[in-house]
Amino acid sequence: MLIIVGSRREGNCYNLAKKLKEKFDQERINCEIITPGNQKIHLCTGCMDCDKNGVCDFTDDMRENINKISKEEIIMFITPTRWNLLSGDLKIFMDRLNPLYARKGLKNKKMIAVSIGARPKQLYSTEAAISSLTSFAESAGMNVILKKEFNNCLNAYDILSQEDEINNFFNEINKLTI
Ligand SMILES: Cc1cc2nc3c(=O)[nH]c(=O)nc-3n(C[C@H](O)[C@H](O)[C@H](O)COP(=O)(O)O)c2cc1C
Repeated sequence: MLIIVGSRREGNCYNLAKKLKEKFDQERINCEIITPGNQKIHLCTGCMDCDKNGVCDFTDDMRENINKISKEEIIMFITPTRWNLLSGDLKIFMDRLNPLYARKGLKNKKMIAVSIGARPKQLYSTEAAISSLTSFAESAGMNVILKKEFNNCLNAYDILSQEDEINNFFNEINKLTI
């Protein structure tokens, strides 16, 4: 399991990823967390060279990220909700996945899509953020196996007070993946 964290602060997205990793570790399931916003990742220039040869001209942390994604069956994206959308860090990351897409390397990979927001559920803000993740999945040929929204998370550690929700989510993942 590879978890891509869409917020660069050690906030709700990272704290959720850390909690899930602890649980995966207990079950001896390999789990790694990547925070693209804290890595060296150039913006895609749209040159389209990768469409021809499946390789990006930039040599930065995306080389290793793409290696890791190639080997994983399930990728979890955790995005903070920003203006009802996914985070900019994740969008930059997705653009830079085009070399892998060009080699059909994303096809049939499984995605777990998670959004976290400050607003309450009935405002549909986190739902809209999830739909930007699932639109990417659809476009990339990935299969979304699970979607999860966490609401009412404004301050960095708010998610940790939703322990039952996190446990239920982990159990749902377990049912689908083990
Ligand atoms: C620029 C910006 C825009 C945001 N827009 C929304 C929003 O549209 N809906 C929402 O529920 N929360 C919104 N939030 C709040 C974050 O989604 C929320 O605080 C989330 O828990 C942040 O995740 P993090 O702690 O991992 O950074 C926004 C936060 C920022 C910084």
